[in-house]
Amino acid sequence: MKRNISYCFFGLFKTLLTVFLAVTICCAEAAATEFQVGDDLGWQEPDLNNSALYTQWASRNRFHVGDSLSFTYKNDSVLEVDKWDYYHCNTSNPIIAFDNGKSIMKLDRPGPFYFISGAPDHCKNGQRIFIEVMDPRPISQSPPPGAVPPEPYLSDSPAPSPSLGVAIAVAPCALFMALIVTFLASVCSSP
Ligand SMILES: *[C@@H]1O[C@H](CO)[C@@H](O)[C@H](O)[C@H]1NC(C)=O
Ligand SMILES: *[C@@H]1O[C@H](CO)[C@@H](O)[C@H](O)[C@H]1NC(C)=O
Ligand SMILES: *[C@@H]1O[C@H](CO)[C@@H](O)[C@H](O)[C@H]1NC(C)=O
Repeated sequence: MKRNISYCFFGLFKTLLTVFLAVTICCAEAAATEFQVGDDLGWQEPDLNNSALYTQWASRNRFHVGDSLSFTYKNDSVLEVDKWDYYHCNTSNPIIAFDNGKSIMKLDRPGPFYFISGAPDHCKNGQRIFIEVMDPRPISQSPPPGAVPPEPYLSDSPAPSPSLGVAIAVAPCALFMALIVTFLASVCSSP
């Protein structure tokens, strides 16, 4: 009887370890992404012939709650502003302002975020970015950088909810977890 009990605890321990590893592997791809705004160009006033730089950059990426934006710049600043101030390049009422050269903005809610440069005329010349943040990244959806399908940009309607995608992505993980729980339950009841 005593041996059975210790075997049972050993089995439980092994099972818990398996569960831990399974969850780690299964759900690791839900990890957050840090986006380098402007890629190699960073955050700077675009050339006159390239004023859509940040619009195009934003349309090449998909942002989810939990991701973050990294702004890298010199002699410049980044201001989070509201929609009105974004469209009017008004730098006088920022929600948050940074000028430390490297600023990380956590995207902590779904919906639109607006950022502009605080340097004179930079915003007017295209150094501003609007992104639409979607619900948290679906579990086990791996985002291949640079290979995401383009999404309509500058749309005022809320981003389409990826709920179907979430359900499909979650299903294999949930099934897997259910199997493990069943196995866990059978460990101690087996003779
Ligand atoms: C803009 O013009 C510069 C030279 O004036 C050129 O090097 C650059 O490739 C041009 N960029 C675009 C996007 O056309
Ligand atoms: C830094 O930016 C300010 C305002 O945009 C400008 O007047 C100044 O010349 C810049 N300095 C350098 C070293 O680029
Ligand atoms: C910016 O916004 C402030 C406060 O909302 C306003 O007083 C100011 O006139 C605006 N500046 C410009 C250039 O629109």
